[in-house]
Amino acid sequence: MVHTLRSLLALLCLAASCAAQAQGLQVLHWWKSASERKAVDLIAARLNDENVIWHDGVIPSGSGVGAGIVLRSRMLAKDAPEVAQVNGVALRDWARLGLLLDLDAVAAAGKWDKLLLPAVAAAIELDGHIYAAPVGIHRVNTLFYNRKLFAEHRLSPPLNWAEFEHAASVLHKAGIVPLAQSSEPWQVTTLFETIVLSEGVDFYRALFQRRAAIAYADPRLGAALLRLRQMKKWMNQPVPERTWDATTRQLADGEAGMMVMGDWAKGELTVRGLSMDEAFGCAAVPGTAAYHLYNIDTLSMLATRESHRPEQEKLAALIMSPSLQNDFSQVKGSIPVLRSPQLSKMDSCARASYKLFTSSPAVQVPSLVHRMATDEIVRDAIVAEVHRFFLDDGISVADTQRRLGNIARSFGKTK
Ligand code: GAL
Repeated sequence: MVHTLRSLLALLCLAASCAAQAQGLQVLHWWKSASERKAVDLIAARLNDENVIWHDGVIPSGSGVGAGIVLRSRMLAKDAPEVAQVNGVALRDWARLGLLLDLDAVAAAGKWDKLLLPAVAAAIELDGHIYAAPVGIHRVNTLFYNRKLFAEHRLSPPLNWAEFEHAASVLHKAGIVPLAQSSEPWQVTTLFETIVLSEGVDFYRALFQRRAAIAYADPRLGAALLRLRQMKKWMNQPVPERTWDATTRQLADGEAGMMVMGDWAKGELTVRGLSMDEAFGCAAVPGTAAYHLYNIDTLSMLATRESHRPEQEKLAALIMSPSLQNDFSQVKGSIPVLRSPQLSKMDSCARASYKLFTSSPAVQVPSLVHRMATDEIVRDAIVAEVHRFFLDDGISVADTQRRLGNIARSFGKTK
């Protein structure tokens, strides 16, 4: 009986629609924490409603370092997944090599040009073609603080570094770890890039976007490095190497008073039942309130087999649907990529992020660590250098500045 049914199904499945349905999509991404998982499940469930199966290919790795490596090796082995999280500058490099499907037809049908925020539209486009479905925008220069601890010690969210030092020393004296932090390279450099931004937006852009050699010799880079090193005294000793969600848990458990992390950490706090407006505050990293240091999460469709295209296009269309955008970002901690999102569904942190991001292109600053400012090679080299400096107090500021300058020079774009 079962056999007969199978044969019947096989016969029926000769029809193209059934073949497409049966395939499903392998999706390679790095979203592994509880809130990330919940956000992924949301997309997978809605895709399933459209009869497309999401074959999950998570490669756990904060900020996607491991996922990027696995993706590259799978491409080389001609075993590419149909969908992959390819964020930032790499997206265009991959498109240039002909490795990504263009999503022009879906975008035209869905009027993406009318829906998308201009900065997002620009990020997914190359030579007039569209190469990714944008999932959400994160704000990296976010300072989270524990409201209860702050109230107990009569502290307010620090607006500048002097206020931060004050809050940190009060918390420290009370036996609380002032700043939850991990020594993972990308987490150290995420903190560092926000410190650099506090030295001035033009300076940040000169360093990480233009890679102007002269900026690497600037005393402001020295000051930022020194601040990074001095902040170690406010962290657990030795600074633990742990995932970002473990770092977030320390804040959630009230063992630490503050944390600098992209607003994906908000997703992790809320998934634990903690309310943004009651338990936690979200402020800007001191000295960076006027800027939105951003990254955009995007899923690209890989040019694998043509037979996958209908399902790939369905996923792209789904991701851009306003209902998914609004619901997903609530879970993930991001903001939608849309010009008219449902502001009423946003918490105060998301609303502030959205308002600032859309206020002017001048406030939008692309994150280095999260791949928006420069290519992977330069990013990886800078992250490694900053990490070494952070771990080893014996390395001088001047040497690190010189080495970072050499990276900028070696990879061109010097002005
Ligand atoms: C970022 C990504 C976020 C979040 C974070 C931690 O690069 O854009 O969505 O996943 O890494 O892994």
